[in-house]
Amino acid sequence: MPKITIYNPRGQLEAEGEVEPGVDLLEASGRVGAKHGSACGGVCSCSTCHIYIKQGADSLNEMEDRESDYLDRGFDVRPSSRLGCQCILGTQDIVYQISEESERTWYDEHPKERHEAEAAGLWPPKK
Ligand code: FES
Repeated sequence: MPKITIYNPRGQLEAEGEVEPGVDLLEASGRVGAKHGSACGGVCSCSTCHIYIKQGADSLNEMEDRESDYLDRGFDVRPSSRLGCQCILGTQDIVYQISEESERTWYDEHPKERHEAEAAGLWPPKK
């Protein structure tokens, strides 16, 4: 099974693990415990699952027009940007970084964890 390695927006290792091919990267992030937000629930109707592919981009499916359209609405879009819910894991290892907007969305969706992180001084992150 391919190994996935995920970094947070500050470039720190967030999570890693093995996930079977055919799973989208939003789902894969959840399986290994990464904070990967998804306001629309993974149906390609927002840009909050925005990630940056660092390694293994060639093993993913091609970007389709709908993904491109929604990605254009994201913040800090780069050549390596993809929407995690639209990227299907192939057979190769992959490395990606979760965008700031996606991490922020995850905390908005998980108020208990956000309050715990705030109490511990971990959220919002220091610039
Ligand atoms: S979760 Fe909304 S586009 Fe991926």
